[in-house]
Amino acid sequence: MYVCLCKGVTCSAIRSAVNEQGVASLRELSRNLGVATQCGKCAHSARQVLHEALGACSAGGCCGASADAAA
Ligand code: FES
Repeated sequence: MYVCLCKGVTCSAIRSAVNEQGVASLRELSRNLGVATQCGKCAHSARQVLHEALGACSAGGCCGASADAAA
C-alpha cells in the first residue's frame, strides 16, 4: 500500500529502509526516500509504519506489517 503518493513510497519500502539502511526516524526516512517532503500529508502514516517496523508500535497497521515483520 502506498504511504506517500507524492513520492510513490510504499509501506514495504519504508520497512526495507528500516531493516536494510538502518533508518530510525522520520527525518532519515524523508532524507532517504523523500517521504513527507512535498505535501506532507503522509507524515503521520509514515511515522506509524516506521514505528511498526522498529517494533515500537503494537497496533495493527499498513499491509499487515506486523505479520510481515515477523517473517
Ligand atoms: S503524500 Fe507524501 S509528501 Fe505528499
